[in-house]
Amino acid sequence: MSGGVHIVTIDGPSGSGKGTVSRALADHLGWHLLDSGALYRLTALAAQLKRIPDADEAALASLAAGMNATLSYRGGVEQATLDGEDVSDALRSEHCGELASRVAAVPGVRHALLDRQRAFARPPGLVADGRDMGTVVFPSARVKLFLTASSEERALRRHKQLKQKGIDVSLRTLSEDIGQRDERDANRSLSPLRAADDARVIDSTRLSPEEVTARILPLLEAAGIGPNRA
Ligand code: DC
Repeated sequence: MSGGVHIVTIDGPSGSGKGTVSRALADHLGWHLLDSGALYRLTALAAQLKRIPDADEAALASLAAGMNATLSYRGGVEQATLDGEDVSDALRSEHCGELASRVAAVPGVRHALLDRQRAFARPPGLVADGRDMGTVVFPSARVKLFLTASSEERALRRHKQLKQKGIDVSLRTLSEDIGQRDERDANRSLSPLRAADDARVIDSTRLSPEEVTARILPLLEAAGIGPNRA
């Protein structure tokens, strides 16, 4: 619990399916949802708009703490605004993901986003999706999950998603980008991507999001978490 609010964390690399599964769990439980990656993406987008270079840690940190950004869901689809402008589409682009992975390696940014992330913990509960939810942001979460999948499978999933949106990127380029991002996320000095010692690791390579969710529900149940017992 964090301040009396139950928390379930779901960490893992991009393409592991944690976004879809986190949304399904938050819906099922009637809990709030934190897509922490979106906060890093918003910071990256804001930095790009304001032309703040990666090297200017103080400016990036103050931007992350003070940016006028909102995240919400409409019909299950994430909506994001920056200074009142709808930036939902820009936020999901590969380019923005790449920029986000860079700003996420800046310690001042990670520190500045801590309070913003923890503010999402409101009754009845929170499903928190990211890379360091169980290790750093919500270390006392009731249930911690870590989703993995092979890098080939993750590239294929991303390729399919982009194709559905009419974006044509070669599978090879995507695989290389994913590999580079994994490397950066897993090897940065502060809060690298890793499973918390007390996290349950689920390999989703051969599982659909529904099958992953079906494996998680009994774990929540065993921890006394269910839609009517939040
Ligand atoms: O989950 P995502 O692809 O939207 O995340 C974008 C980038 O932000 C990702 O490359 C790593 C970073 N990130 C992070 O460092 N810590 C988090 N809790 C969430 C995302």
